[in-house]
Amino acid sequence: MKPAIEGGKPVREEFLVFGKPDIREEDIAEVADTLRSGWIGHGPKTERFEQMFAEYTGAKNAIAVNSCTAALYLSLGMLDLGPEDEVITSPLTYPSTANVILHHGAKVVFADVEEGSGNIDPVNIEKKITVRTKAVMPVHLHGFPCDMDEILDLAEYSSLAVIGDAAHAIETRYKNRHVGILGDAACFSFYATKNVTSADGGMITTDRDDWAERFKLLRMHGITRTAWSRFREKGFKFYDTVAPGYKLNLTDLQSAMAIHQMERIEDSWKRRTEIWHAYDEAFSSMQGIKIPPEPEDGRHARHLYPVRLELERLSITRDEFLEALKAEGIGAGIHFISLHLHSFYKNTFGFKPDDFPVAARISERTLSLPLSPALTDQDVDDVIEAVEKLLTYYAR
Ligand SMILES: Cc1ncc(COP(=O)(O)O)c(C=O)c1O
Repeated sequence: MKPAIEGGKPVREEFLVFGKPDIREEDIAEVADTLRSGWIGHGPKTERFEQMFAEYTGAKNAIAVNSCTAALYLSLGMLDLGPEDEVITSPLTYPSTANVILHHGAKVVFADVEEGSGNIDPVNIEKKITVRTKAVMPVHLHGFPCDMDEILDLAEYSSLAVIGDAAHAIETRYKNRHVGILGDAACFSFYATKNVTSADGGMITTDRDDWAERFKLLRMHGITRTAWSRFREKGFKFYDTVAPGYKLNLTDLQSAMAIHQMERIEDSWKRRTEIWHAYDEAFSSMQGIKIPPEPEDGRHARHLYPVRLELERLSITRDEFLEALKAEGIGAGIHFISLHLHSFYKNTFGFKPDDFPVAARISERTLSLPLSPALTDQDVDDVIEAVEKLLTYYAR
């Protein structure tokens, strides 16, 4: 059948948005309740969200901030980084993972990824450790757990901090341990497309009480008493500024959106898993596409469903495939184009594509298909039909 991009009939008339959030009436009611309550900033709902998140992950502390980027920034800030210091991370990630290292004036050191999961390869981390390395930032890409035993061993041996980028990994477990309790801190995202969303938002989990206290202070200007704690306490209280902090807190309005999603999180994950298996079953017998791997010992958060195109078997590129899917009425994404191929990183540090060959190869072929509990069975069938149609038509 002729693809829509070449004048054929599209699989869908109504466009299927990629990463559609699953917002229910109870979320809307909670937001409305917050709006009516007279307290919309940082307050009781954010504290409830933090508590729920700590319970869910098993972490001693959960500190809400206004993005995962803020969480990563504050976490790295615990390390007193300077221009001589190096932080190792994956190039196959969102820009903020590496950007925050630069914001602290330190050096970004990329270590290439594993072919299967696309996660940072501990073998490559080891090669990049020097006397100046201060931390490693593993990214649990798409929700697939990094090889944390290897990473934690390397970190312990070389006295490195481990700051996890768990933006995709709200439900991720590594060998039955939630990734939120592995390393010194883990950073989560509640951006619009994430498995739990507050439109924008983030959380830091840490078992280090000293870090947790510092995060609470720094997310709110470095002042000793927030408006909410002053309101709650009896008698007039003034605040003192004890550090030059930032404004990185999450509001109750945002937390209100997320708290019922936290209650539904396991049901949502089950629906994501159902869709995942439907895709796996359909795509595993098709030519020109490779399905994502499963963790051997752990749990995938099922945040993104990334397929790899076998370009040798197709007459179009990944970007053309994405355009053709769009014309069929299906939104898709790319997670990610390796950062060493982005202008800033390439031009500033002189990276060549072959410096991180595995990440570069994945960058050319990867494509994320819609995955959300908000998808109907018909939506899932449409995605499968569109992919099959394009693979058949553009088969080499
Ligand atoms: C791997 C990764 N890290 C960090 C972030 C930053 O998250 P946020 O948008 O909440 O700052 C993202 C955002 O999509 C991400 O995908």
